[in-house]
Amino acid sequence: MDIAVSRKVLVYSDQESLSRAVAESLTTLALATIDERGRFALALSGGSTPCILYQLLAGEYRDQIPWPEVHLFWGDERCVPPEHRDSNFGMARQTLIAKVPVPPENIHRIPVEIKPYERAAKAYEQVLREFFGPPVTEGLAPSFDLVLLGVGEDGHTASLFSGSPVLQEQERWVAAVQAPPTVSPAWRVTLTLPIINRAARAFFLISGEEKRAVVTSILGDHEAASQHYPAAMVRPKTEVIWFLDQAAAAK
Ligand code: 6PG
Repeated sequence: MDIAVSRKVLVYSDQESLSRAVAESLTTLALATIDERGRFALALSGGSTPCILYQLLAGEYRDQIPWPEVHLFWGDERCVPPEHRDSNFGMARQTLIAKVPVPPENIHRIPVEIKPYERAAKAYEQVLREFFGPPVTEGLAPSFDLVLLGVGEDGHTASLFSGSPVLQEQERWVAAVQAPPTVSPAWRVTLTLPIINRAARAFFLISGEEKRAVVTSILGDHEAASQHYPAAMVRPKTEVIWFLDQAAAAK
């Protein structure tokens, strides 16, 4: 029987204060986790919402975080080169990684240059299994200490889209997927629910009026939403916090 995971919804006046609240919570969590276990395994989100957060982590919060003990992963990656404007790794490198002393060996990007994309997914899964895999190291989270996620207007998260067969995946931790025809880039490599839901915590960062309808659906009737919206299927081990700005918050 699923133990109910703690779920919090926090609303902030705008994206800047939302991002600042996430930076504060993430820094506190990183310090406590590193103090207790010696490392902090963080999966970064793609899209545009996390940009301000990454700039805060590279700026005001830079010297509060023990970067040599932080390991960076990605929840998903578009199948484009790092220099491409749509690259999630490229965005994080520009806003965060280039400005903080995280050791290169702690940066675990999704190798989308490997073709076909399913082989890239398998290669990344190998990285994750070596880092987290059995035997689960005593006392360490069985996967990420924290996963940062966004939500699309259609309720997707990472590159898990409604109706995708990958939502039924029980074994694989990483998969190559094609986004719906309206979404580009088409090909992505994404974490699957089994590995996301082995994480200790997930923080959703959601900003903007265009997200209000899907946020209302997801946070309104969570049970019904979890049958349809991938973002509502995220149930990590300890806690999910929905960080919203007022524009995105349900009425
Ligand atoms: C991606 C992200 C995706 C994103 C949402 C929200 O690679 O596109 O993983 O899940 O978080 O689409 O994107 P915005 O933050 O740009 O609204």
